[in-house]
Amino acid sequence: MSEKPASSATSSAPSADPLANKSAAWSARFSEPVSDLVKRYTASVFFDKRLAPYDIQGSLAHAEMLRHVGLLSAADYQAICDGMAKILASIEAGTFEWQLDLEDVHLNIEKRLTELVGDAGKRLHTARSRNDQVATDIRLWLRAQIDTLVPLLAALQTALLDLAEQHAATVMPGFTHLQVAQPVTFGHHLLAYVEMFGRDAERLQDARKRINRLPLGAAALAGTSYAIDRERVARTLGFDGVCENSLDAVSDRDFAIEFCAAAALVMTHVSRLSEELILWMSPRVGFIDLADRFCTGSSIMPQKKNPDVPELARGKTGRVNGHLIGLLTLMKGQPLAYNKDNQEDKEPLFDTADTLIDTLRIFADMVPGIRVKPEAMRAAALQGFATATDLADYLVKKGLPFRDAHEIVAHAVRICEQKSCDLADLPLAELQKFSPLIGDDVFAVLTLEGSLASRNHIGGTAPEQVRAAIARWRKKLG
Ligand code: ARG
Repeated sequence: MSEKPASSATSSAPSADPLANKSAAWSARFSEPVSDLVKRYTASVFFDKRLAPYDIQGSLAHAEMLRHVGLLSAADYQAICDGMAKILASIEAGTFEWQLDLEDVHLNIEKRLTELVGDAGKRLHTARSRNDQVATDIRLWLRAQIDTLVPLLAALQTALLDLAEQHAATVMPGFTHLQVAQPVTFGHHLLAYVEMFGRDAERLQDARKRINRLPLGAAALAGTSYAIDRERVARTLGFDGVCENSLDAVSDRDFAIEFCAAAALVMTHVSRLSEELILWMSPRVGFIDLADRFCTGSSIMPQKKNPDVPELARGKTGRVNGHLIGLLTLMKGQPLAYNKDNQEDKEPLFDTADTLIDTLRIFADMVPGIRVKPEAMRAAALQGFATATDLADYLVKKGLPFRDAHEIVAHAVRICEQKSCDLADLPLAELQKFSPLIGDDVFAVLTLEGSLASRNHIGGTAPEQVRAAIARWRKKLG
């Protein structure tokens, strides 16, 4: 953590302000102060201060409800609003003095509010606990992350669509087991990733529905004896409803785990794409080149241009996947209701969102700069008997059972291998030795273009279908 909060001078003298120092937040019951090490160990302000705008938003909605139901005077409510506006401005300006002694973002803001507006600040915590407060903050924050991520996924999809459109008819070998399998178009290949990122966006939007519920009102764990109006707070904060069990509301972090699971899949898809970019850029393959600004050179080997960005993205996938496992493990042994363990949810969650946002931004920027080398793709497609299946299908259409056709073509491929030539290089008479069903119409199916054009159904690689799929996606993305 680069930014460390300033540690406040702690005074041992009793104070009228219950938050004059943090241990006084739970105060009188304790006979000795916590050590500096324990303070540092238990504090979260180093990292949870980034929740501040959401903490303030939640507090204002809570205060507005308290005023509405008569638990807060209009004057106190106004004082809280004014004080919070000042606090928010100083946080945004970077002048707010975060204090380690005040443990977390919630106590730091509340203490400052009380300094600014006096007793009104102390009344804000009526009918509330940090337990429902923090759960609310994370939900508000996470909702905003999803609202940033979904358009970024769409931007990456659009970049892929643009490239796919340019290469709707560019032939490349399709692989299974990393062996040349059948010809596909590069556009079709890119569209596979458009589908993956489309499902990723769907998953995030689906998780958002469960994130968008209000914990406030659950208080510490059991609800509160005050006549509060939770629905009102939910409406003010734009939540779809309230969490309907107080114990669950303050303790479960399944919504954060769901987000991390969706994020792990996003990164897994990015990682697969990265692996392909790296492979395609290897001079041994030579299908593409990445723009120089996404690559680095070597300090010792002058000839090198390394695909650092995709490699890092592949590497960062491990860290995001790790956060998912971290959060699952954090949750699994916790009895109801809130436990301090949950404070550990934040750093993995923050890092997950940060990593995703950066990665998607950089990929949306990198994809349009991919330089495609169609000649190399075509040459590779011509090398691995990519149209062998087409020959078998041709024989089936002439009446042969598929298994027999498969056998015949396997034989033909072996002969071609011995002669170091492609199926299409064999003269008709030669081909007819494998089966008398073969006629001179066979060459249409043995060519790469013939093979592509024949896969002309929804989801197939025919250029016509690739263009139709692109059009459907453009319409979906608006
Ligand atoms: N910093 C705490 C967290 O992140 C806030 C809630 C603290 N609640 C408590 N009972 N200690 O979870």
